[in-house]
Amino acid sequence: KDFALIMAGGKGERFWPLSTDERPKQFLNLFSDKTMIQLTVERLEGLVPINHTFVVTGKQYVEITSEQLAGLPRENIIVEPMGRNTAPAIALSAFYIKKHFGSANLVVLPADHLVKDVEGFRKALKSALDFIKKNKDAVVTLGIKPDRPETGYGYIKFVRENEDVKYNETVLRVQRFVEKPAYEVALKYLEEGNYLWNAGIFIWNVDTIIETTRKFLPKTYEILNKLFELPENSYEQALKELYPQVDNISVDYGIMEHYDRIYVIPSAFGWDDVGSWTSVERHSEKDEMGNVLASNVYYFKSKGNIVKTNKKTILNDVEDLIVIETDEYIVISSKKSAQGIKDIKKEVGK
Ligand code: GDD
Ligand code: MG
Repeated sequence: KDFALIMAGGKGERFWPLSTDERPKQFLNLFSDKTMIQLTVERLEGLVPINHTFVVTGKQYVEITSEQLAGLPRENIIVEPMGRNTAPAIALSAFYIKKHFGSANLVVLPADHLVKDVEGFRKALKSALDFIKKNKDAVVTLGIKPDRPETGYGYIKFVRENEDVKYNETVLRVQRFVEKPAYEVALKYLEEGNYLWNAGIFIWNVDTIIETTRKFLPKTYEILNKLFELPENSYEQALKELYPQVDNISVDYGIMEHYDRIYVIPSAFGWDDVGSWTSVERHSEKDEMGNVLASNVYYFKSKGNIVKTNKKTILNDVEDLIVIETDEYIVISSKKSAQGIKDIKKEVGK
């Protein structure tokens, strides 16, 4: 059985004020009329049907998730009473799926990424699923060729045994997984050339998830194990009491950095994490002066601007601005300070 688990509990604070605590990035339509999570489900078409797709998210997002994903059975939304990061979110889901649906191969993926070449993406997932069917205790990751010393990603050091590497297909052994290295370290990895970025997508069996949790996060394992031994009618209450005690750690730090059965498929499918407004710029249609196009925005003598507003908006003789309008706020920022928007949110808004 091939299942998918979409992780949709993140906050996406860098897109404030468009993203809010009530509606983070995965529920926004930044690129088309579809939201990021809708695009994520659509991308799995032909690979995993909607009734084999699960979403793990915070209780405050259950409603918006089922609104946006028509056809997703209610029991396929796995609810966290509070966010404890991705390692326990994935482990909780593995226990849940195992109990209700039996053993399964699981594609674990983020709800808020962009993929340009959907066919290439599906091919990579298919190769990964084939691989874990033959190697049950393996974790397959998808690795993107780095083009800058990005410190917000995980780095995967691969071992090349066979010279003929086919993108979206060849499975290589991983020697080391390093989550979010310091800038100097990332620069060194970039120069060494045998590192790939972790795309944040993991293909593994639910039994492997449970087993690696037991090994590397024993406290979390004990708590979840206890939870799923209780009778069904006490699950909700027990979850509320027990979940705060699990380790608060990402799957990258908690498991991937320690496990020795990780593999990587060098991948090229136009992947982007869409971490900030400047990545929206990279993927939007622009005029010849590099302004992001929108039907309500008029640019005069202006260059390199990113505008998302509801009113007719006119920019005259300005450069490299981000202009965002919501019901509550108008934010005007220079592009170079785009990353700082999340700190401003902490000071003024929600
Ligand atoms: N359910 C749930 N609960 N989902 C969560 C939680 C949580 O507590 N925290 C984060 N998520 C979701 C986010 O919504 C996102 O879809 C995904 O999990 C990854 O979380 P991020 O917070 O975006 O992780 P990251 O971008 O810093 O790092 C990860 O992704 C990078 C690629 O984008 C790592 O896997 C890196 O190694 C990787 O390079
Ligand atoms: Mg991310």
